[in-house]
Amino acid sequence: MSEALVRMEGIEKHFPGVHALHQCRLELAAGEVHALVGENGAGKSTLMKIATGVYQKDEGRIILKGKEVNIPNTRAAQQLGISMIHQELNLMPDLTIAQNIFIGREPRKGIKLFVDDRKLNDQAQQLLNEMNLQLDPRTKVSELTVAKQQMVEIAKALSFQSEVLIMDEPTAALTNAEIEELFRIIEQLRGRGVGIVYISHRMEELKRITDRITVMRDGRYIDTVQTKDTSIDQIIAMMVGRELYVSTQQTTVEASEIRVLEVTNLNRGSAVKDVSFHLAKGEILGFAGLMGAGRTEVARAIFGADAIDSGDIRIHGHKVQLKAPHDAVKHGIGYLSEDRKRYGLMVDMDVKTNIAIASYRKARRLFGWMHDGKIDQSASHFVEALQIKTPSIHQQVKFLSGGNQQKVVIGKWLLRDCDILIFDEPTRGIDVGAKTEIYKLLDELAAQGKSIIMISSELPEILRMSHRIMVMCEGRITGELRQQDATQEAIMKYATMRIS
Ligand SMILES: Nc1ncnc2c1ncn2[C@@H]1O[C@H](COP(=O)(O)OP(=O)(O)OP(=O)(O)O)[C@@H](O)[C@H]1O
Ligand SMILES: [Mg+2]
Repeated sequence: MSEALVRMEGIEKHFPGVHALHQCRLELAAGEVHALVGENGAGKSTLMKIATGVYQKDEGRIILKGKEVNIPNTRAAQQLGISMIHQELNLMPDLTIAQNIFIGREPRKGIKLFVDDRKLNDQAQQLLNEMNLQLDPRTKVSELTVAKQQMVEIAKALSFQSEVLIMDEPTAALTNAEIEELFRIIEQLRGRGVGIVYISHRMEELKRITDRITVMRDGRYIDTVQTKDTSIDQIIAMMVGRELYVSTQQTTVEASEIRVLEVTNLNRGSAVKDVSFHLAKGEILGFAGLMGAGRTEVARAIFGADAIDSGDIRIHGHKVQLKAPHDAVKHGIGYLSEDRKRYGLMVDMDVKTNIAIASYRKARRLFGWMHDGKIDQSASHFVEALQIKTPSIHQQVKFLSGGNQQKVVIGKWLLRDCDILIFDEPTRGIDVGAKTEIYKLLDELAAQGKSIIMISSELPEILRMSHRIMVMCEGRITGELRQQDATQEAIMKYATMRIS
């Protein structure tokens, strides 16, 4: 390969209490898709935030097309043609798609006092067309799904004519069709000579679209390999540097016959249509389906987060009215939402408070107060059990890596001691090692008699974990499979079965 487009070398970065990067490096060629992988907290996002001026390096060099450059802020990075699509989306929800894409550089008219809205929308439309996106640039971003917001972020990055594009877990929230669309756009960019750094925890994707893979572990550079010469197992071994807890055997414990939750003829607009199912004590009930099938909507209705039009919900045989999440919590239901940023975390608070918050009120009701030492102890327990990478339980959650923030939300609901736990995409953005830890935890919870609903778009995960699987398509339950009969093909058949 000729002269690198970008080379980072000897990069050091410290945060208070954390030595995040030790002598890290990365080399990206023009027209290359280069994967950057590593466990949660390995330092991937931090290294890339240094390349885009979000953070400043303590030491090291960044060489762009043969010349050392200084990147004091994100604007400087953009001017140098380096853009990043962040793990946490950064759009302004109240602005339109077009306004978000051109924020701060809107075309002006007259004596430049006014934004030229027509031109703004036309330019945005052109970008969206180039990406083959059926979106109206005048739509407010708050009305878009996470997936569509992601696409808008990409359109925005493209509008800077970037030569270097960094994508931090771009597919975590995308449907299969959208992932194909993204890959098509990536190919297009590669053809134009754009260099792409691609961060992902999904190993199959890396095999498909990347040329080389750089592995990081614990803030250190491990190696760079050619994708075509390397197996997924080899990559994982480099990432974790230790033996994984492997459990290929499927859940063997049988669920009981006791029904803890019964849902009958649940309806909510066009999102949920006549949904009926039950959940037994000690059961892990998988909910499979394509994104948008209505699984999250069912979960939200059961959790009291959305009002239902009609239907019955019974808990331990008693009909209940769940008007708000606190009603559900009172009945022992916990919900780990798929959009953790919005519903699950208080990012300015520390790890301890986030884990303890849901239990705190209950404890205070029971005992009048809750012992601080006790909170510390339970928080520490979960930090250890879930291997949350943080300097201490007193660290603010916003300083944790993306995957570790998710583990905090999981810890919170585990501590709350609910009878019924709904996990919506529990392992999204979680690295391979931590995934297996979460599977182990879910198995243990079920064995203790907890009942779990697990919504997941990853078929191997659903197949491995569930006693029974409900499959949804367009708001309806289209199939029910027992573990022994379930295959990827059977699930896909029901997941695409339209009943009009
Ligand atoms: N602003 C910050 N302040 C303090 N610590 C930070 C900050 N940003 C990152 N860290 C720490 O630096 C380390 C690396 O984090 P980083 O976000 O780069 O990980 P990552 O590899 O992107 O992980 P993930 O796969 O979970 O997204 C972590 O220990 C994290 O807690
Ligand atoms: Mg990250």
